[in-house]
Amino acid sequence: MAVAHDFERIDNEFYQGAEAFFRSYPGLALTYDDVTLATLYSEILPRDTQLDTTLAEGLELNIPVISSDMDTVTESRMATAMALNGGLGLIHYNMPERDQLSEVSRVKNHVHGLIQDPIKVAPDELIGDVLALIEKRNFAFSTFPVVDASGKLAGLLSSHVVKQRYAKRKVADALTPRNQVHTISTKELGSNPIPRADKFFTDHPGIHKLLVVDEKDRLQGLFTMSDVEKITQEKTAQFKPARDRQFRLICGAAVSATRNAFGNLDRDRILAHVGELVERGVDVVAVSTAHGHTKGVGETVRMIREAHPRLPIIAGNVASAEGVGFLADCGANAIKIGQGPGSICTTRIVAGVGVPQLTALYVASRAALAKGVAILADGGVAKSGDVVKALTLANAVICGGLFAGCPEAPGQTMEIGGKLYKQYRGMGSLAAMKAGSAARYGHAVSATQKVAPEGVEALKELSAPVDQILAQLIGGIQSGMGYLGAANLAQLRERARFIRVSPAGMREAAPHDIVEVKTGN
Ligand code: XMP
Repeated sequence: MAVAHDFERIDNEFYQGAEAFFRSYPGLALTYDDVTLATLYSEILPRDTQLDTTLAEGLELNIPVISSDMDTVTESRMATAMALNGGLGLIHYNMPERDQLSEVSRVKNHVHGLIQDPIKVAPDELIGDVLALIEKRNFAFSTFPVVDASGKLAGLLSSHVVKQRYAKRKVADALTPRNQVHTISTKELGSNPIPRADKFFTDHPGIHKLLVVDEKDRLQGLFTMSDVEKITQEKTAQFKPARDRQFRLICGAAVSATRNAFGNLDRDRILAHVGELVERGVDVVAVSTAHGHTKGVGETVRMIREAHPRLPIIAGNVASAEGVGFLADCGANAIKIGQGPGSICTTRIVAGVGVPQLTALYVASRAALAKGVAILADGGVAKSGDVVKALTLANAVICGGLFAGCPEAPGQTMEIGGKLYKQYRGMGSLAAMKAGSAARYGHAVSATQKVAPEGVEALKELSAPVDQILAQLIGGIQSGMGYLGAANLAQLRERARFIRVSPAGMREAAPHDIVEVKTGN
């Protein structure tokens, strides 16, 4: 036993728990690539690890991943995809308040498998127009419901006829007529639509689409067999969709500490909007600013807390223990940590402030433990290994760049030099601030005012859909947990042992001295 003891002592000298490790670097700020985690004896297989995390009472995620409240990352489509995969999307606030309410409603009313607002075509369009639409919007499907000017279902344009050779024909001449199209009425769907649609597809071999109509024969939605099959499989999935108590997908919305014309916090407007978000079923609001340790953010959080004692509140961003303590005292349940780590951020360059992310997380985590709040590692996550390191200190990660290239992110896909891209911009970039996010950075943007942008406008290559990106990410997190013998995230936080990496060690970590023919993803 004495020998085993010695081995442990040797390990402990080099590989240290968070407390000993970070405290041995006072005055030095570290980030993800500066450290690595030492492996530990394990009986845990990656596939058996649990990734659920509680951010507040009533706000539980099945995976610890959140998409950023940025106008090129999260609207309803992204938030739906995140929740379907067990995570959370925070809908940005760079849009009129009523639009944000509609975006939240879209997520909350989403019936998995039912496409509620399918892309439709009109009878007098040409097949050539439809082909152009498919190309422009990069659709992966080519069957469309045909709806007349009064909103009534006129038929179904099947993919067999959406071909170049029929380009000059009218949709009306090529469609499958209404009386041959399979439909179901909204009333027939009842409270459990998926088993109903599933039965329909079993009873009708060869039919892959089922249209939903109301009593006036107006189109209300579309089921596809492949979607319904995916949901049926969902029952056995390891990471189930994140749902509220009424089985609706969860959804978050960002709010800003809006000021009125006199420069005072616009209490009435903020409270009215949050009240409407709550009515729509929002599961969490995020008071999102670049500097959360301020009077205005504190007052905003306090006022929302007083008006909605049980509503989960996220607030930020901060990078200090005092900042966490302050927002927790104001009533926040989960606090965003990150000042300047984001892939599109220039805060550190422009303002000379901010803290590399791992040290910021350590410092914040000590206050979070004391206050009983969660912390969210916001920004700077580029690979799954970064998430594993972040989760040794935080309860979840918030990612922007990782999802900005997904088809589910807002914005058009554009082609440049034969490659497909999507726009990704910082909320502190000039363009985003002009579109409304200036309050986040404490600026008022008018045509006559000059502001210092704290973010850049960029492009991301079009990536795989969210579920594939998340599958990669989750696979990596589970591997990390397996290496550390951690069955769940609490054990990951407990067991993590850190060591600094030298620049040579960093080079060693990536593929080297080879001719790479295929990347890992
Ligand atoms: P990633 O690295 O995931 O970062 O792309 C996303 C996070 O970055 C923050 N953010 C900004 N920070 N200037 C900044 O300094 C900006 O313009 C900006 N826009 C977003 C935000 O916390 C986001 O979640």
